[in-house]
Amino acid sequence: MRLQSDNTMFPKTRMRRLRQDRIRNLVAETKLSAKDLICPIFVDETIKESVEIESMPGQYRVPLDTVADEAREIEDLGIPAIILFGIPETKDEEGTSAYDDCGIIQQAVQNIRNVTRDLTIITDLCLCEYTTHGHCGIVDYDTKTVLNDPTLPVLGKVAVSHARSGADIVAPSGMMDGMVRAIRTALDIDGFTDTPIMSYSAKYCSCFYGPFRDAADSGYAFGDRSGYQMDPANSNEALREVELDIDEGADIVMVKPAMPYLDVLRRVKTRYMMPTAAYQVSGEYAMIAAASRMGWLNYDQAVHESLLAIKRAGADMIITYFAKDAARMLSKL
Ligand code: PBG
Repeated sequence: MRLQSDNTMFPKTRMRRLRQDRIRNLVAETKLSAKDLICPIFVDETIKESVEIESMPGQYRVPLDTVADEAREIEDLGIPAIILFGIPETKDEEGTSAYDDCGIIQQAVQNIRNVTRDLTIITDLCLCEYTTHGHCGIVDYDTKTVLNDPTLPVLGKVAVSHARSGADIVAPSGMMDGMVRAIRTALDIDGFTDTPIMSYSAKYCSCFYGPFRDAADSGYAFGDRSGYQMDPANSNEALREVELDIDEGADIVMVKPAMPYLDVLRRVKTRYMMPTAAYQVSGEYAMIAAASRMGWLNYDQAVHESLLAIKRAGADMIITYFAKDAARMLSKL
């Protein structure tokens, strides 16, 4: 038998040709850009200077006075959006400081709006940072359970208050049933019909949120969140949660955490074709940050590969604590 002389017939040869350095970028299926990223900011009403978060080395809580500078720095790096988390001065059982028009988030949004025109301001909408017990809703102390339905009107009030202060998108993260509809209705009644909702639709009950609870001071006094967050064993359930949120009016759906749930992300994107966000959470950050500090991982490569993988799996946008570093890195490529 004669050997094939024209090796263009061999698919592997064709792939090798396309893998040459200059050509590789041209044919890459997934391209990461700073424009894909959303940068979280923790704004803390109780501090006067930035404080590094112990379990998230390189990440800081910032005071109200400098939150606008931080936002501008993010915008200058080419990142199109931020998501704000608030640490309030006062907490109570019902989390009322979450809908105070002079609350930490409301003031932060106004300060940022004053200095940036184009940056999209997303506000995380949850009660856990604002309640003394640290749960995401109103709690019945006798039965030690979170009361779903009484929580909904409170979330509606928080959403309206955020929108009134100038938030572009509200992002409910508490996984209460019916929260998207309650928030949509409340926003519409107050005239905020054009304020989109980014729902944390498929939010797993994950140990990877551990460092965040340090960061946002939202550890809980009793119980856990397994009553309202999803079982890591399930992915069909995630699709049902996403579908409910879409029916209730969610404009953007989210899968969280990101790396351990890339299969879920892919299924959600393929099935619903909605604008889909993924949240690379605090524990995912902490693993890469810590291993890099130990010299066990190359920081730049690990950050890039992890974000690329999340985008490849179907994310249109990625909330990530690496946003600023990734944007700096990508601008040099
Ligand atoms: C609040 C909220 C949490 C996160 C985002 N919003 C914590 C939680 O559900 O316990 C986690 C983010 C992270 O780990 O980076 N409901």
